[in-house]
Amino acid sequence: MDKLLMIPGPTMLSRRVLGALGTQMRAHRTQEFGDFLFSLREDLKRVFQTRNDLHVISGSSTAGMDAAISSWISPGDRVIVPVYGKFSARFRQVVAAYGGEVVDLQLPWGQAPICRQIESVYDEDVKAVALVQNETSTGVRLDLSEIGAFLADRDTLFVVDAVSSMGGDDVRTDDWGIDICVAGSQKALGCPPGLALVSVSKKAWGIMDRTQPRTYYLDLRRYRSSDRRSRGQTPFTQSESLLFALRAAVDGILEEGLENRFERHRAMAREVRGRATDLGFEMFPALEETYSSTLTALRVPRPMRATEIQSLMSSKYGVVIACGHDDYKEKMIRIAHLGDATMNDVGRTMDAFAEAAREFRS
Ligand SMILES: Cc1ncc(COP(=O)(O)O)c(C=O)c1O
Repeated sequence: MDKLLMIPGPTMLSRRVLGALGTQMRAHRTQEFGDFLFSLREDLKRVFQTRNDLHVISGSSTAGMDAAISSWISPGDRVIVPVYGKFSARFRQVVAAYGGEVVDLQLPWGQAPICRQIESVYDEDVKAVALVQNETSTGVRLDLSEIGAFLADRDTLFVVDAVSSMGGDDVRTDDWGIDICVAGSQKALGCPPGLALVSVSKKAWGIMDRTQPRTYYLDLRRYRSSDRRSRGQTPFTQSESLLFALRAAVDGILEEGLENRFERHRAMAREVRGRATDLGFEMFPALEETYSSTLTALRVPRPMRATEIQSLMSSKYGVVIACGHDDYKEKMIRIAHLGDATMNDVGRTMDAFAEAAREFRS
């Protein structure tokens, strides 16, 4: 029997998405295929809550993070990249890899950067601020409205990784003034891994148009040019099967309705938190208002070891959860509740978690 995945991606796929993966290939350089991709992108914009352009890149979410930086950066450009977990640290590495000068803002894992902290290191030379909206390594979620408002009238790009929240949480790309927003297929969108989705504002295109490209495959301008030449076309062969799966996943999301979907995620998060704290586990994020709705990170008290709980849950109960990253490997459990996960899945997971925790306590 398949194990129940309650990790922060990949997620369990719905029957509809599994079925779509079996679709026969089509000729991609046709108007029919272009129309298909165009309408998929239009529907994805509804999920992103944006009127900006949106492009689909074949590659995992990190390809999206890379495109979101390499399409406009020049060596020496100053970029504020607060680091408060594994994926914000990755953003920093991407900026550094292209010769950007990172303006440091290091926070302990579990905290979320706030507008005042960004303002304290900001000056007119800062070309971009790059943030992870839902830090999957710590279960911390940021409300970006204030930071977006601060950057809105400045000549500074607001670049956001919404990889583990898009499709499960209320990510307001336009209301928050996000210039480049990145999502990944395998998380709350409920699709297999392998596609990165990137929205781009007019302001971002303007800055890109004044820059020499640092990248070839990931240069977002190339995607815009192909699309302009022929609507819905892409510079390189698309991962067709993944697009068919994404079409089915997005149909499911829109049929459920965004607000219903966000509420389902919030309800699953409340249930996991409630049951975990009843069992004596402490939440990892420092502040309640930053608790993620797509995954819950918990501290594992000594002498318990996260990997032992994880492995018992998988072998005895068939439920797969995640441990912490890096220094937190044994000290953190992460239970994801995203995509098409249901309250039943959450119930089964928390029953197994309670049993496993009991076994290691006794
Ligand atoms: C917030 C965030 N950003 C980026 C990534 C990188 O995703 P991928 O492994 O698909 O490249 C992940 C993966 O877990 C993530 O959670």
